Amino acid sequence: MADIADLDWSAGVKAGTYEDIPPMPVGQAADMGTAADGRPLINPRLFDSAEYLRNPHPYFRLMREHYPVFRDKLHNCYYVTRYDDARACAADDLRFNTIPKGIASTVLGNTQLELSGVEHRRRRGVFDRHLAGRALQDRIHAIERLATAMIAAWDKPQARGVTDLSSCRTIDLGAAFCNEFPVRVVCEVLGFPEESQDQFHYWYQTMMDGFGGSATARQGLEARQDLEDFVVGLVQARRSDPTYLYDAAGNPVREDLISTLSRTRVDGDYLSTEEITSYIALLVGGGGETTRGAIMNMWYLLLRHPEQLEAVAADDTLWDAAFQETLRFAIPTGGLQPRHTTVDLEVCGVPIPAGSLVHIVNHSANRDERYFESPNTFNIFREDLYHGKMLRSGFMRDGKTSHLSFGAGAHFCPGAFISHQEATACSKILMRSMRNPRLNVNRMAKDIDGVSPVPIGLGALRELWIDFDR
Ligand code: HEM
Repeated sequence: MADIADLDWSAGVKAGTYEDIPPMPVGQAADMGTAADGRPLINPRLFDSAEYLRNPHPYFRLMREHYPVFRDKLHNCYYVTRYDDARACAADDLRFNTIPKGIASTVLGNTQLELSGVEHRRRRGVFDRHLAGRALQDRIHAIERLATAMIAAWDKPQARGVTDLSSCRTIDLGAAFCNEFPVRVVCEVLGFPEESQDQFHYWYQTMMDGFGGSATARQGLEARQDLEDFVVGLVQARRSDPTYLYDAAGNPVREDLISTLSRTRVDGDYLSTEEITSYIALLVGGGGETTRGAIMNMWYLLLRHPEQLEAVAADDTLWDAAFQETLRFAIPTGGLQPRHTTVDLEVCGVPIPAGSLVHIVNHSANRDERYFESPNTFNIFREDLYHGKMLRSGFMRDGKTSHLSFGAGAHFCPGAFISHQEATACSKILMRSMRNPRLNVNRMAKDIDGVSPVPIGLGALRELWIDFDR
């Protein structure tokens, strides 16, 4: 009997076409044939298809059930899909190394994500000091001020993403708020000069687009170079004259991140501007698009579940649950953590040789029915999801389990706390600013039936149209 991994799927099929893998109703998988042992086959062309980006979860379910470690001979990699295995691989930094990351590192430079061991720990401390614990309390005022100012700007004539009708106002939450808000927060954390923030936004956007492939990678690299040229002057100025973050009363509470990085010495030497630019690029790369998508997905899911939206509107404390359940249900970006094996090893009985590319599929782990009941249902009241303080080691006790959207182990996202803070703080203000918010289905992008709003799929919504009473 032929092993699934030995079947030649590459003959006579084109990548990324509907003929390979047809678009299916959301929640259903295409029939890709059956192996001699009765297991459903998975054509690895799936991972190049539009269907996978739009409707990945039925395929992850097949993998969890039949191929918990799926060997993809076409793309020469392995997918680890069950919760226990995903968590164990992420926690095992020695055998599952993070090097190399591919196209993102070309544009972002040699970042924290590429490092491991002592070198990783040394750099990581800077993020932890500025993005978690006390730093969060110091920052909440700035975050709330920023959100309030951006929402107040909806009243200006020709505000981006805002249409006023006599009875109601229609906004695209992306254009009117989310596309900029998290990047502006990162600018605050960094202490990027206010007058250069529009320029910064352009560099950010061009670097992000640069992940897309060779056509845009060159512009992405140029944007990174321009950013680095700008950072040179900034670093020199901040070494002698650091700038600060201020509290509501206008008192300085702490140095901003660029000032700290400019004055940090390692073995007697200052960090190079190349290194500092990589820190900055990783923060905007890691903190912009991700949090943008988390806020968009959260509002979309709540608007599609009006009874849950009502509950959150009536009780502010439910935003924590809404945020965590959104991340479990729909990771806004990434969700596949690449690793390289440093030794020959075995996961779930499948041998994986040293030097292999392994994708830890957080998207799939978050819907593992071994831990989450009815995992394909969005339910902020579910009792099996942990909402407490987020931990690198994760949490599993008393029938509660944390999602894996922020990773686990040494590389656990240091931005998890600020991202949670940003998303919940701005959502409380948004909720107070919109009376009777509801989804404007007519203006939403449509799914394959031409009627239903497009599903979130493997990522985040680009546009989210909301009507609310004036
Ligand atoms: C919903 C929002 C976010 C999600 C889903 C997310 C997800 C992740 C994940 C899964 C990792 C681990 C990658 C790996 O193991 O290979 C990571 C790392 C990282 N994230 Fe986030 N992130 C988010 C927000 C943020 C924010 C707001 C920031 C900063 C302001 C940030 C900065 C970073 C950095 C610097 C790393 C590298 C950590 C290391 O390698 O030690 N992230 N993020």
